[in-house]
Amino acid sequence: MSEHVVHPVPEEWAKNALIDAETYAEKYRRSVEDPDGFWREEAQRIDWIKPFTKVNESSFDEDDFRVRWFEDGTLNLSANCLDRHLPEKAQDVAIIWEPDDPNTPNRIITYSQLHADTCRFANALKANGVKKGDRVTIYLPMVPEAAVAMLACARIGAVHSIVFAGFSPEALCGRIQDCQSDIVLTADEGLRGGKKVPLKANVDAALEKVPVRRVIVLHHTGADVPMVEGRDVWWYDEIEEQNAQCEPEEMGAEDPLFILYTSGSTGKPKGVLHTTGGYAVWTAMTHEYTFDYRPNQVYWCAADIGWVTGHSYVVYGPLANGAITLMFEGVPNYPDFSRFWQVVDKYQVEIFYAAPTALRALMREGDEWVKKTCRKSLRLLGSVGEPINPEAWEWYHKVVGDGRCPIVDTWWQTETGGHMITPLPGATDLKPGSASMPFFGVQPAIVDPASGEVLEGACEGALIITDSWPGQMRTVYGDHERFFQTYFSQYPGSYFTGDGCRRDEDGYYWITGRIDDVINVSGHRMGTAEIESALVEHDKVAEAAVVGMPHDIKGQGIYAYVTTTAGTEDTEELRQDLIQWVRREIGPIATPDVLQFAPSLPKTRSGKIMRRILRKIAANDTGNLGDTSTLADPDVVEHLLANRPG
Ligand code: PRX
Repeated sequence: MSEHVVHPVPEEWAKNALIDAETYAEKYRRSVEDPDGFWREEAQRIDWIKPFTKVNESSFDEDDFRVRWFEDGTLNLSANCLDRHLPEKAQDVAIIWEPDDPNTPNRIITYSQLHADTCRFANALKANGVKKGDRVTIYLPMVPEAAVAMLACARIGAVHSIVFAGFSPEALCGRIQDCQSDIVLTADEGLRGGKKVPLKANVDAALEKVPVRRVIVLHHTGADVPMVEGRDVWWYDEIEEQNAQCEPEEMGAEDPLFILYTSGSTGKPKGVLHTTGGYAVWTAMTHEYTFDYRPNQVYWCAADIGWVTGHSYVVYGPLANGAITLMFEGVPNYPDFSRFWQVVDKYQVEIFYAAPTALRALMREGDEWVKKTCRKSLRLLGSVGEPINPEAWEWYHKVVGDGRCPIVDTWWQTETGGHMITPLPGATDLKPGSASMPFFGVQPAIVDPASGEVLEGACEGALIITDSWPGQMRTVYGDHERFFQTYFSQYPGSYFTGDGCRRDEDGYYWITGRIDDVINVSGHRMGTAEIESALVEHDKVAEAAVVGMPHDIKGQGIYAYVTTTAGTEDTEELRQDLIQWVRREIGPIATPDVLQFAPSLPKTRSGKIMRRILRKIAANDTGNLGDTSTLADPDVVEHLLANRPG
């Protein structure tokens, strides 16, 4: 059993790390026994304009429900990421940008340049009528201007809502509408693995349904894109005349910083809202301790800024710490399967942080692609977004890290703002596949999903967090009731993560995956309800049920069961059409891996779809379908089994 494989903390890490095992134990104890004192000190890593006097004023109880940290303090996060570094580090590198095509010139941006670019763009936003509290939708590729846009919003107190550049016009439209933003920042095109992504065209399509006042377009590939008179303007024209100074807005700790949409088990994606002070403390602190970050190290988080990992660990955490953060526009297999490691060598990356899905895909291509690069600069590896299977963990450790680099398997969520359960490289003996131990201030517990009883010792159940932490989301934008219902109603008094989890006899946490109707495809969260509603919008679809299925590379794949309308012939052509339909409606990441026509779906007598059975069929785990006695029509299952594609 992998549980018994332990990689002890390497000696030099135990000696030199910021946090060793003893410090971890002591600091963790203090963080839960004297949280007020602990957080008063830790929050000093952020420059406050007006110091806070109150620390944690959160309550998870229904009567008194609120999440609030450092509430009477004021600060500006852009000033924390830029201005405060200028006296010492103006000429130090802030962002290294590596383009999709290795032959395109890269960009090395100093703190002084990033400050000037941010101020100019912040002034341009103001000139375009953006005020404190306004929502700004960002639909940009992985270019430094995406970071500039985020920091410029933070500077003037506007709330950014980044929409991953792989999402469809339909998905973009829904997100613009939900947060009522009237300005969109985009580029002519994005580039990924040599392929162009028609960002401006997607924006135009989205805006047919939800008009906005202004679109600012970044010239990136130079594609000829139509501009709508009076609405669309060019990024460079807008900043040309702007001053390179812009006074940062004084923000309350609880003023909103950003909205990021994420999928849940029901309904449309929800706008996760993060505020300023607690998020700043949490991302800076986790970035420093989890990665043992020291000045002048080159740090690379390979996530896209369209996901929370990009927000917290490409932009805010590292820049708040004055780090060198590498932004990569491309993909791991372009021009070839060595690309990640070539980039590591090119910039002497010391800390590398990526999702298991990319590692599994590279592992499949063989060790040669890795071994022909040097990678001597690497000292620490990280994993995020989904469970990492022990085989991929061992490969990452042995082949990529030459057995030398600890791996931090960081468990967290869009909702948590930053790392929650993670090893610290100088403190935690590693068990491949386990996210290991809680970060400071995080109080996990495991409950019996049925009874809600808190389980002790070695056990398995649903993962909850029993008290607030500074980086916690504050609300679902525009729907505070949904925030409470989604996370705090199942296990009263605690935050429910949606994840299943096991704790072993050493107290290590092993995340087993989502136990709600959320699936995790290549580290990207998808709601099965979202895909189902896209399917039933097709005029030939009467009913649809979507479940996750095991997938070697993606972790989970998407398995869709579709009942077509009466009189429709279930042809191969229609099957392909429906797959493409979902891809167009949501985006390529939602493309079903398998689509099975189902003349009817297994239901209980009260008409509830039995997803448990559908999951078993999808996983081809048909030996034990469990209790089928409540099925209205048992023949339905036989039919699905007999007609399982592939
Ligand atoms: O199921 C867990 C999984 O990803 C979910 C959160 O997804 P998202 O909000 O998109 O954030 C991804 C980046 C943090 C979690 O509920 N997850 C994330 N990290 C891990 C993980 N599962 C296992 N191990 C992890 N390290």
